[in-house]
Order: sequence, then C-alpha cells, then structure tokens
Amino acid sequence: MLAPMEDVSDPPFRAVCKDNGAHLMYTEFISSEGLIRDAIKSKKKLDIFDYEKPVGIQIFGGDEESLSLAAKIVDATNPDLLDINFGCPVKKVACRGAGAGVLKDVPLMVRLTDAVVKSTSLPVTVKTRLGWDENTKNIEEVAERLQDVGVKALTIHGRTRTQMYKGEADWSLIAKVKNNPRTSIPIFGNGDIDSPQKALEYKNRYGVDGLMIGRAAIGYPWIFREIKHFLKTGELLEPPTIDERLDACRKHLYGSVKWKGEKLGILEMRCHYASYLKGLSHVKEFRTRLVSTDSPAEIEDIFSSLLEHYTNGIITQVQTAEIAA
Ligand SMILES: Cc1cc2nc3c(=O)[nH]c(=O)nc-3n(C[C@H](O)[C@H](O)[C@H](O)COP(=O)(O)O)c2cc1C
Repeated sequence: MLAPMEDVSDPPFRAVCKDNGAHLMYTEFISSEGLIRDAIKSKKKLDIFDYEKPVGIQIFGGDEESLSLAAKIVDATNPDLLDINFGCPVKKVACRGAGAGVLKDVPLMVRLTDAVVKSTSLPVTVKTRLGWDENTKNIEEVAERLQDVGVKALTIHGRTRTQMYKGEADWSLIAKVKNNPRTSIPIFGNGDIDSPQKALEYKNRYGVDGLMIGRAAIGYPWIFREIKHFLKTGELLEPPTIDERLDACRKHLYGSVKWKGEKLGILEMRCHYASYLKGLSHVKEFRTRLVSTDSPAEIEDIFSSLLEHYTNGIITQVQTAEIAA
C-alpha cells in the first residue's frame, strides 16, 4: 500500500505508483475543519480517479462534529474507504488535539472514531502510532477499542509521536497487536520498509496482513512492483532504466500540470526531481537546470539530454535514510 503523505500522495504521484504495482493507496490527510469550511485546498484533495482504485481518503481532526460532517463529505466522493489519521506528529496537528495528539486520550479517540463510523457507509480504517511516547505505548488497548467501535483495518507506524521519524521503527508491538487473539481486523505494518528483502523479512517475522510504504516510494515508485515480484518469486527485478525513470518523472510532471495548472504543477514538481534522479552520478547540473526553469519545452530538452547522457545507466534503489536526509 502507498502511505498517505502530505504534499506527496496526490493524484499525479499516485498514478505513477499505480502503474508500478501499488495496490491500495491513500490520499494525503485532509483537514476535517477545512472540508466543512469548504476550503479549496482541502476540497481539491478529495479528487480521486477510477484508474487508481482501490483508494482511501484520509481525514484528521479532534472534534466529533467536524469529523462526522467531514465523513459525510468524503462519503459523497465514493472512495473505497475512509481512513482517520491518529498518527500525525507535527505540532500544528498533534498539539491541537488531532493526529497523534489523540493517542493521549483513548476515550476521545473512541468517540471520534465512533462518530465517523456512524456518519458513513464506507469501511472506516485508522492509521496511528505505537503511542504518544516511550512510556505510554498504548497501541494494544487502542487496537482493541477501535475494533470494538467498528474499524475495519488498522495501520500501525512503529514509532511513537515523540520519535517523529527518528530511530528505527519497532515492529514488535505491531506483531503483538496482530497476534492478540482478540484481534480480528487486518493489521497493516508501516515504518522503514525500503527494499523487497526487508518487505519479505518483516512480513514473515511480524505476520502483518499488509505493508504500507511511504518514503521509499518517493521518486522510486518501482518499489511496489519489486516487492510484489520478490514475494511471489524470491527473485529481484532489475532496477528501472533511465528511460523508465524519465517516463515516470514525465508522467508525474504532466499529471501535476493537468491537476494543479501549469505554473503550480511545474513549481511543485521541483521537489521531486532530486528523488527521481538520485543515484545518478554527476547529476547536479541537470537537477539545477530542472529546478530553475518553468518552461515545459526546456524541461523536455533537459530530459532528452539526461537520456542521452545516461542511456543504459541503471540506478540502484535508494535507501530510505538517504531519501529522508
Ligand atoms: C512527507 C511526508 C508526509 C506525510 N504525511 C502523512 C499524512 O498525510 N498522513 C499520514 O497518516 N501519515 C503521513 N506521513 C507518515 C507516513 O504515512 C508513514 O507513516 C511514515 O513515513 C513511515 O513510513 P515509511 O518509513 O515507509 O516512510 C507522512 C510522511 C512523510 C515523509
């Protein structure tokens, strides 16, 4: 599954992930307050397309009424499921009683979830973390109580809120939730999967029902097909060629232009070139040119030069730590 990622998991990016084997995909998180205020930015994030199904829309909020109204709005857009974010660690969300902030108050989490479940006919899933901090890892209780109010699947990111994205994700508690005899819903594991080998190892070792992948897919949507192939055959696929890299990058770019308009589409694509080109030696000059132009024709010229320069160059998969850096 493709993880929900703000400013990343938008329709243009989801399209290239779908092409390369992502199964279930999630939108970026959407503010429930924004949706009910009819904020353009929030509404735009509801855009989903038939070719990308199954797709889940993720919302966040800390207020029952807002989440409930937002759930009704989501319902009308007809995704395959509605996900509630109880995992966002950033201050402006978690310290205002939403996202991972809700992990501090399990009864509130239960009430919020119950309100959403009762407001939609869609399957409701939740994505959360192990707990607020090292001393309050309450995911086992959280999982049981969310299941009891009708959540249909749970994704657990193996970190606490205070860890943010630092350190190594701890999947042992995820496995504990999965192995709890009271757990009957699917449990999806998340955190640090960045290679087919690790995907297989974690799937077997922790027994989860699905793997969710975030950072490793940024600029490397082939991670999905590589993992699927490895799980099925035990063999590693060849990494993408430079042509495949540029084709995906181009599709992402034109998708962005179509969805966001030329100016914004080109501007926001600038933060993705580095990841698509990561691993190529001496690529800095091309990258600098790509992020300095707003002309589609010039971007195409740079793509042509890249193709000429690196033909037959195979780029190996970049590890998550490198991407995060
Ligand atoms: C740029 C970025 C944006 C993110 N936005 C969201 C989000 O909107 N909703 C959410 O539930 N998690 C969000 N996350 C967390 C990811 O979904 C995921 O839990 C985390 O990156 C760990 O998985 P990974 O190691 O595979 O990247 C975000 C992560 C990143 C790096």
